[in-house]
Amino acid sequence: MKNDKKDNLYKKQYPKNHKFSFNSEVADVFEDMVKRSVPGYEFLINNIGIVAKKFYQPGTNVYDLGSSLSACSLSILKNVKNLDGKVFAIDSSKAMINICKKSIKDPKINFINSDICEYNIVNPSVVILNLTLQFIPTTKRENLLRRLFKELNTGGVIIITEKVKLNKMQDNILLQNFHDFFKENNGYSKEEIDRKKLALADSMIIESEKDHEKRFKNIGCNNFYQWFKCYNFASWVLIK
Ligand SMILES: C[S@@+](CC[C@H](N)C(=O)[O-])C[C@H]1O[C@@H](n2cnc3c(N)ncnc32)[C@H](O)[C@@H]1O
Repeated sequence: MKNDKKDNLYKKQYPKNHKFSFNSEVADVFEDMVKRSVPGYEFLINNIGIVAKKFYQPGTNVYDLGSSLSACSLSILKNVKNLDGKVFAIDSSKAMINICKKSIKDPKINFINSDICEYNIVNPSVVILNLTLQFIPTTKRENLLRRLFKELNTGGVIIITEKVKLNKMQDNILLQNFHDFFKENNGYSKEEIDRKKLALADSMIIESEKDHEKRFKNIGCNNFYQWFKCYNFASWVLIK
């Protein structure tokens, strides 16, 4: 999807009780926002398509969970030439799903407006959670992953990308400053960065790499591998 709208949302001041949400204002500028905020985002999208090509099994489905504007789904469709099942792009934001329904006309994708914690996946060989798990309440994360891994076909893959934190406070501050510097270099002011951080504080709960890897083991996955790391963002493949 190509959209040139620039993210200026946090140039303005919001009331004290303002919270970030994936509403239509955000959906409208999401492409610019995510590219300027997540180091390596375009690399991630391209390579999620390539990893999917390696693990996709004919006759199965692909699930893009927390799909936003369906960047992962589109990359998968571009790369996986033998895809004969369905791609389910699922997001709890009506605004995101509406934009996708209007602008993407590929009969292989089904756009679904749903909470991924309540949605049953069927016959998947590729499941994507690209920057999504961090928005799921921590108490629900293990059950969600357990269910996804249980449904995954043997030989299939779950790809999980997350912002991560370091356990030592001082190290974590250093890493956060590094990320802020990345965003400043992409044209965000210090005020914009701080306002958005404050707005996200309740809904985006960041864990350490150790926390994630412990959870992968808890759900019965011992075959996982970190294939991407850039600033404070990491991505894993969980293979069944
Ligand atoms: C950072 S964005 C994901 C980016 C997207 N995967 C990509 O690669 O461009 C997080 C998305 O997760 C969605 N989301 C958050 N909680 C959700 C839930 N419980 N069920 C479904 N979608 C959810 C949000 O609406 C948002 O679109």
